[in-house]
Amino acid sequence: MTTPQSISFVPDMATSPVVVPFFDAHTNTISYIVRDPGSNACAVIDSVMDFDYAAGKMAFEGADQIIAHIRDHKWQLEWLIETHVHADHLSAAPYIQQELGGKLGIGDQICVVQDTFGKIFNEGTDFQRDGSQFDRLFKEADTYQIGNLTAHTLFTPGHTPADMVHIIGDAAFVGDTLFMPDGGSARADFPGGDARTLYRSIQRLLQLPDKMRLFMCHDYGPNGRDIQWETTVEAEREHNIHVGHGTNEDAFVQMREARDKTLSMPKLIIPSLQVNMRAGNLPPKADNGKTYLKVPINTL
Ligand SMILES: [Fe+2]
Repeated sequence: MTTPQSISFVPDMATSPVVVPFFDAHTNTISYIVRDPGSNACAVIDSVMDFDYAAGKMAFEGADQIIAHIRDHKWQLEWLIETHVHADHLSAAPYIQQELGGKLGIGDQICVVQDTFGKIFNEGTDFQRDGSQFDRLFKEADTYQIGNLTAHTLFTPGHTPADMVHIIGDAAFVGDTLFMPDGGSARADFPGGDARTLYRSIQRLLQLPDKMRLFMCHDYGPNGRDIQWETTVEAEREHNIHVGHGTNEDAFVQMREARDKTLSMPKLIIPSLQVNMRAGNLPPKADNGKTYLKVPINTL
């Protein structure tokens, strides 16, 4: 599937959803609650399960904070959104969904990701590669409602084959397409990733209105600054260290590919992929009733 170049809808800059960020310090991930200012309807974007890999232990402290915030405010959870299949943290979406309801959605190219990692983890035919573990598979330029808010999807592959940016009023949740201006861009070297495709996806984002608020999925506080997660299209276009000042495609690809060669794998990539490709669910139990994750040797 090729990346469309233009944006086929007019963003509603007059509508400003309430955005509540939650920072997970273990994985440098920012999860969000997005609420319709005209009702109690809300969505949760990119939630995080706490996972102690050394101990094989799952916990839900971070997700419980999100659940408590929604319950305390008597908000109604309508959607759980994954911007992509994350490789650095495990999703808490099924846990939150069990507590609060709502529908779980991801981009429809999840099927490509499931096929790739289904092979890498040697999953049998029981592992469906059709996205059926999710409630909704978004296409490019799809829409859905959060109360009276209309959310629009923008297909932005490159970091992975299935990334979607979600644009809700004057706010865009960019997943791992962009980092803060001083952080640049996300890596494009995971299986199915592609630096040139990422550049083109980022160019789509930079066409959005100057004042659109952009919310990052990650921040690592480069050069010792405090963690930040919100910027604007204008700031990214002018100051982003990887794509700002009109950086051209070939220069970006050269930089991105050289940089990716120096990066080690995220600590949680192996458990994250096995869980997140199943919409945040664990693999089926073994015949002793226990749950296991695999470690493919010399494969990733
Ligand atoms: Fe990611």
